[in-house]
Amino acid sequence: MTMAWFKKRKKLDDTSLKYGVGLVTFTDPTGQISEQFKTVRTNIQFSSVGKDLSSVLFTSSEPSEGKSTVSNNMAVTWADQGTKVVLVDADLRRPTVHKSFSVHNRAGLTNYLSQAMDLDEVIQPTIVENLDVITSGPVPPNPAELLGSDRVQLLMNELNEKYDLIIFDAPPVNTVTDSQLLAARTDGTILVVPQGIADKNGVRRAKQLLETVHANILGAVMNRVTAQKSEGYYGGSYYGGNYGGYYGADGK
Ligand SMILES: Nc1ncnc2c1ncn2[C@@H]1O[C@H](COP(=O)(O)OP(=O)(O)OP(=O)(O)O)[C@@H](O)[C@H]1O
Ligand SMILES: [Mg+2]
Repeated sequence: MTMAWFKKRKKLDDTSLKYGVGLVTFTDPTGQISEQFKTVRTNIQFSSVGKDLSSVLFTSSEPSEGKSTVSNNMAVTWADQGTKVVLVDADLRRPTVHKSFSVHNRAGLTNYLSQAMDLDEVIQPTIVENLDVITSGPVPPNPAELLGSDRVQLLMNELNEKYDLIIFDAPPVNTVTDSQLLAARTDGTILVVPQGIADKNGVRRAKQLLETVHANILGAVMNRVTAQKSEGYYGGSYYGGNYGGYYGADGK
């Protein structure tokens, strides 16, 4: 009998929960890493040519794979281009957007979804021009119920009137149903895959779960690509529009 399943359970990295994620696209906008985020932006735009892309959701198969790092930096990258962006922290279980952008989290998405507040009361500007955020708000006992409610559609409609692009920092697909519920309503879904860390079957399962709800999977962003495989520390490789090709892409 094997205990491999037990060994696989590793402690989650809680650094971003405490301090937020690194906004390298803000602190070093012309650096190599920021350039890679720009490439990802271009590729996402290309993969949705001809279709209106007004909402994008970033998720991954498991926790702590880089969803917040990638989605938050992508939000900055889009805003830099002049796109009016709102970043929504939909990871109600492990929220970080308020930490990353140093804004408060007294009011946010949960207050809006539970009908306690209007949109104007939960939107906050950031130090980044063209970028507003909606933080998670107080974490409720029933996140999936809130994220599956009709009020989400109202949120999207209201945000679409104010912004060019809505970006969701969403929970992992394989652990909770929240992301599936949200992905079903967004124009495009991007899977963040940490190269060499993500379990291939886990990624496959995430893709299947998203397909079950007819999510429009635009592609995958490879995170933590090593220097030999890419130019830099943060991987910006993007396999747009051909998600299936990803499995062959790493040669495994
Ligand atoms: N490319 C990278 N290079 C180095 N560190 C990274 C990279 N991407 C993410 N990290 C680090 O890994 C940790 C997890 O990243 P992040 O918080 O973005 O993941 P997450 O998927 O949003 O996690 P959670 O499931 O908790 O929301 C953080 O400490 C972050 O700084
Ligand atoms: Mg996160």
